[in-house]
Amino acid sequence: MATYPASNAAAYRLGPPERDRGSGALVKVVALLLGLAVGVLAVAAVIMMQAADEARDEAKAASAAPVAAATHDQAMDANVALPLESFAGKVAENAEELAKAHTAYDATLPALQAGDVVKVNMVMKDKTVEIAPGVEYNVWAFDGDSTAPGPIVHVREGQTVEFTLVNGGAIPHSMDFHAARIAPNKAFRDVAPGESFTFRFKADDPGVFMYHCGTKPVLAHIANGMYGAIVVRPKDMPPADNEYALVASEWYLNGDGLSKPASLSMEKAHAMTPDWTTFNGYANQYVTHPLTAEPGETTRFWVVAAGPTLDTNFHVVGTIFDRAWVNQDMTTFQTGVQTVGVPAGGGAVFDVKIDEPGLYPFVSHAFAHVDLGQVGLLKVGDPEGTMSH
Ligand code: CU
Ligand code: CU
Repeated sequence: MATYPASNAAAYRLGPPERDRGSGALVKVVALLLGLAVGVLAVAAVIMMQAADEARDEAKAASAAPVAAATHDQAMDANVALPLESFAGKVAENAEELAKAHTAYDATLPALQAGDVVKVNMVMKDKTVEIAPGVEYNVWAFDGDSTAPGPIVHVREGQTVEFTLVNGGAIPHSMDFHAARIAPNKAFRDVAPGESFTFRFKADDPGVFMYHCGTKPVLAHIANGMYGAIVVRPKDMPPADNEYALVASEWYLNGDGLSKPASLSMEKAHAMTPDWTTFNGYANQYVTHPLTAEPGETTRFWVVAAGPTLDTNFHVVGTIFDRAWVNQDMTTFQTGVQTVGVPAGGGAVFDVKIDEPGLYPFVSHAFAHVDLGQVGLLKVGDPEGTMSH
């Protein structure tokens, strides 16, 4: 439930004035002045609350306009009453069956390409995807063949990325690669529907980076699924047996998405009260379809927190990170660390070497995220039994 309007109100609420228990004219004068001050403050508070309401309405109108234009008559106004209704955890009755039937986003890094230039094409498309069992959402997909996140891009440090964006959506979009050092007003410019645009950058900074649409309002474009990860593989790095990319993000729904697809609730996005949080776009998908490793192998997670707003606090239950390249710094790694915050818009890389067969949950250890779906399993070997988390 959203609490920000309530806390605004609380901030303006005036507590009972504290007075001493004395008597006499001075006390009465002081009391009178205090009374006047309370009155003035109360009036000021009312004015401030009205101003805040108006500002919020204006912000709402400004932010809703392009969203409404893009999603036509989808019910943008279905979830504006306060307090905001949460659809957290609302899944179809046959959720278990649907979760099994769902094809998990392939977290495996795609193969590197040879050559100095790697061509990356994405054709943006407005489409409906499933984000939890039976829960459908109208995304602005970065690539029609993918869901949200968009496809994982994997290049080698020093390669040049030649990126082409084809806008098959209904409104302008753009591409912002965090891995690029480039003038954003040129490369990350808006591309109109039906048009395409190509730019190049040399991937000289290794690590795992977020990419996203940077068209205003960016909050809406990211919240609608326009994000993904680009891995720029460093020239030197210890080997790993399994490598997975995880993009953490959150979803803000204007309906439960069960009877008809949900769209974005900008109110919830502003209030930072998601209905679902996920790794690679679908709640709990790697609980049902675990990532795998063999005992004794090193597994590497390339983690991006796409937000749009919330961080992820990456932790693997039952082990400790053997290596953690924190906050994109690939020049050095930490050892023996338990949980690492990955900020919204940031990335980090984690190695775990696990010897004992078992089911090892990977989570955002900000545990509300786990309840909202940001949890998966690394299945090491062929363990027996079930998981507690
Ligand atoms: Cu966009
Ligand atoms: Cu960004």
